Amino acid sequence: MAKIFVTRIIPDPGLILLREHFPHFDLWTADQPPSRNELIERARGADGLLCLLTEKVDAELMDAIGPQLKVISSMSVGVDHIDIPAATARGIPVGNTPGVLTDATADQTFALLLAAARRIAEGERYLRAGKWVTWSPSLLLGADLVGATLGIVGFGRIGQAVAKRAQGFDLRVIYHDPTAQPACNAQPVDLDTLLRESDFVSIHVPLNAETKHLVNAEFLSKMKPNAVLVNAARGGVLDQSALYHALKSNQIFAAALDVTDPEPLPMDCPLLELENCLIVPHLGSASKKTRDMMSLLAAQNLVAGLKGERLPNCFNPQVYG
Ligand code: GLV
Repeated sequence: MAKIFVTRIIPDPGLILLREHFPHFDLWTADQPPSRNELIERARGADGLLCLLTEKVDAELMDAIGPQLKVISSMSVGVDHIDIPAATARGIPVGNTPGVLTDATADQTFALLLAAARRIAEGERYLRAGKWVTWSPSLLLGADLVGATLGIVGFGRIGQAVAKRAQGFDLRVIYHDPTAQPACNAQPVDLDTLLRESDFVSIHVPLNAETKHLVNAEFLSKMKPNAVLVNAARGGVLDQSALYHALKSNQIFAAALDVTDPEPLPMDCPLLELENCLIVPHLGSASKKTRDMMSLLAAQNLVAGLKGERLPNCFNPQVYG
């Protein structure tokens, strides 16, 4: 019987599928993720690992688990927490969950964009602090969307779904992504043009060696003073210290972050002092239906890998030669 370790309680559809195929799989039931040592001990000897983006799956862990490891399945679209070359070198297919979270993440991006543009979180803090004494012509004025330009950095599935939503708000959409084809009436431009022309800049690139701190002091200095930055990709794409200085000095108008580096964000992070920085705890795909679909897809990847079949969504298909 295959040994499986699942690093957290995932939504029912995935657990039900796993139970049908492997009634005795090992499940980490605590709310907090296993520590590194707990992960190594519990996963040792496993044929299949189903993890979340909270687990660092590197060569050391793969070797500690052992050479029988047949599949790593992550309930996430991003795989920056997994050492893909190390898995590929060991012939281990890595599954992820693209597609099913595209709309939820694009919705969240738009929620953040609108909230930052119209100062929703700041307004709520203002009200709860008892500061609302009258309607005022100049209270908490924000930015309009109609006729403004949205620049999308990274025009994959999620970037394109954001562009589709932008059409309904009469935004002009431009994007920067050397590998993507035009779609949704969005025009391809180079990065400098995007930063120079955009009133909203939304980040949708995966985190890797090339995109680490892509949004740095230089990037921010090229943005318009009225611009709003949205990051629903990965925290590591952004240099948070550079963002703090850009927001503090009103070099840009506002930022809205779904993701941070590290996660969770320490409560003494200077960004939390700023009214023009909205931060939520990595909720891009956090809708019931989406998480159910991610759970099912992650379980399908794991089951396929354990049966020696091709994963429905394999991130490193090179393992199949
Ligand atoms: C969430 O960030 C994911 O990668 O699924």
